[in-house]
Amino acid sequence: MSTELDERPSGGAAEPPLTMGIDPWEKNWMRVSIALLVIFAIAITIAGFAGGFQLPGPESELDPRTVTQSGPWAQPGLRQIGDGQFEAYVLAQTWNFAPRELVVPVGAEVDIYVTSADLQHGFKITDTNVNMMVVPGQVSKLSFTFDDIGEFPYICTEYCGQGHAAMYGTVKVVSEADYAALTTDTATETSDSSATQTTENQG
Ligand code: CUA
Repeated sequence: MSTELDERPSGGAAEPPLTMGIDPWEKNWMRVSIALLVIFAIAITIAGFAGGFQLPGPESELDPRTVTQSGPWAQPGLRQIGDGQFEAYVLAQTWNFAPRELVVPVGAEVDIYVTSADLQHGFKITDTNVNMMVVPGQVSKLSFTFDDIGEFPYICTEYCGQGHAAMYGTVKVVSEADYAALTTDTATETSDSSATQTTENQG
């Protein structure tokens, strides 16, 4: 029994070592590459499950030439669809977003639908993970829950010509009380809201 065990290591030592003759430097780089892959996999997993990473997909198709004539983009803006749940229809065109401002109560869960009436644009809401390409003929959709009160500018992220840098708007997240006050006000002032926005944009 003991003799057998003693023979094994001496027999093993006589055999050539089991390596492919990899240079130590190459081995180190292989370790680095594997470590990077593991780091990326962890990052994607965290982004996917903890960070709420979403892939914007083509939601549906439409005709960009008639998009402003009928359907939700004929009157872009926010609609309430349930308790704390909203839909926002945003129209991108050279060189503005309609509407320029979306006001939501804190905690609002908003499904954001964006389409373009002309060229390819981008739609990114600062400090959120909402970032999508806006392609004429396609509807891009992402959802976001606005848990913090504040202003979140949205900007065009695809170069679309001379006015590209001026293509932006703002999501205003207000307290429940402020929102309630606003909605009762706007019920009587809806017709003035476009005029107010124009004045704000000039300033
Ligand atoms: Cu629209 Cu850049």
